[in-house]
Amino acid sequence: MITKEETGKYLQENKQRFLDELFDLLRIPSVSADPKFKGDVKKAAEFMKAKFEEAGADNVEVCETAGHPIVYADKIIDPELPTVLVYGHYDVQPADPYELWDSEPFNPVIKDGKIVARGSADDKGQVYIHVKAFEMMMKNGGVPCNVKFMIEGEEEVGSENLEIFIAENKEKLKSDVIVISDTSMIANEHPSMAVSLKGISYLEIEVTGPNRDLHSGVYGGAVANPINVLCRMITSLQDENRKVTVPGFYDQVLELTQAERDEMNKAPFNLENYKKDLAIEDVEGEASYNTLERMGIRPTLDVNGIWGGYIGEGAKTVLPSKASAKISMRLVPNQNHREITKLFQNHLESIAPKSVKVKVKPHHGGMPYVTPTDTDSYKAAEKAFEKVWGKKPIPTREGGSIPIVSLFKDILGLDSILMGFGLNSDAIHSPNESFGVENYLKGIETVALFHQYFAELGKK
Ligand code: BES
Ligand code: MN
Ligand code: MN
Repeated sequence: MITKEETGKYLQENKQRFLDELFDLLRIPSVSADPKFKGDVKKAAEFMKAKFEEAGADNVEVCETAGHPIVYADKIIDPELPTVLVYGHYDVQPADPYELWDSEPFNPVIKDGKIVARGSADDKGQVYIHVKAFEMMMKNGGVPCNVKFMIEGEEEVGSENLEIFIAENKEKLKSDVIVISDTSMIANEHPSMAVSLKGISYLEIEVTGPNRDLHSGVYGGAVANPINVLCRMITSLQDENRKVTVPGFYDQVLELTQAERDEMNKAPFNLENYKKDLAIEDVEGEASYNTLERMGIRPTLDVNGIWGGYIGEGAKTVLPSKASAKISMRLVPNQNHREITKLFQNHLESIAPKSVKVKVKPHHGGMPYVTPTDTDSYKAAEKAFEKVWGKKPIPTREGGSIPIVSLFKDILGLDSILMGFGLNSDAIHSPNESFGVENYLKGIETVALFHQYFAELGKK
């Protein structure tokens, strides 16, 4: 049985090596979206495999898929004991725009107590917490329960092949609970655990006007400009109360009771600091909900990118033939991403003027998820957080999505515990992404203790 004293001691003795190894992983640019990095993604998978083997795992495999590989490893000590399945991802978002980084994205440095590198928080640093927690347990009397690891390389591009993998490997993945460190906490002084993730519907709109680019003087004002039309349509997607106007959009939304809203609003949140951090004078969002609620429990619609026409140096007078935009809608419990995508498509077609052609192309989607908190696994996680961070973690609702989590429930019948150690200030997906050294090291302790407490509570 591993104790807090043992985890603390082992950490102190191995701290530098734990950091060095994570730095090695962060130096591999495993960008899943860009085919240019395919070899590096594979290298990161091989790195994970080697580290699982060194830490003492069995059945370590790099499982090939139609896309990037999945790394599997396990340690089964007794089929009678409960089994934890750890999920995470070793792929990262592209580092662009490179010029906005203060240091090289794939050359990690420590600055103000934080590890700065692409993937430091999302999700390599948080995945490596589990590898080192496993090593720590193995070196201190062995794991107290069975452990399986499934670390994928396509989370940032929609986890398509992981869905196939889990459907084909139900027996291999059989366990009692899934643990994921890929979310954030409120602050190091206010530990928290996410209890929900949003769903997502992501799509692209293409508006086509005349059969070629035209002179904006000769034809302007006489022929529909696809950029003008696209902007008009996008603007109409939200009303003056910032409600999404797609008919049926809110029909399935599970409204929280006032008591539930009051409960979630107990979480410490300072709007002034929030605005200061983002250098904005004011926030905006759906009327009659506050910022925490807009982020955690309300569905949203955002343009993620928009392009068309001339964007080079200087001015070119042109009425473009095409314009496009990428749209994401974040969904909350009971909304179905397939239905929402359909509603959006129908709506856009219905508002498209005859002067242009509008195509809506769905990308990826995912369902929202809510973690039940009346379980041994949640209680074990709560206890581990309290032991290491000094306070019982506050349950929070995340605005981010990990679409595979609802599929874990549907396909494997398993709930997920979201033991995230990042902070919102880590700037995931942005330049200068970072992860606190303290978060990394305390994360390792928290995860090791979680296994201990879960094994005790979950004895069959
Ligand atoms: N780790 C994030 C999700 C996340 C971030 C959840 C912060 C909660 C808080 C994950 O890697 C991610 O970026 N997910 C994508 C999903 C998309 C690619 C389908 C997202 O949320 O945009
Ligand atoms: Mn992630
Ligand atoms: Mn991400």
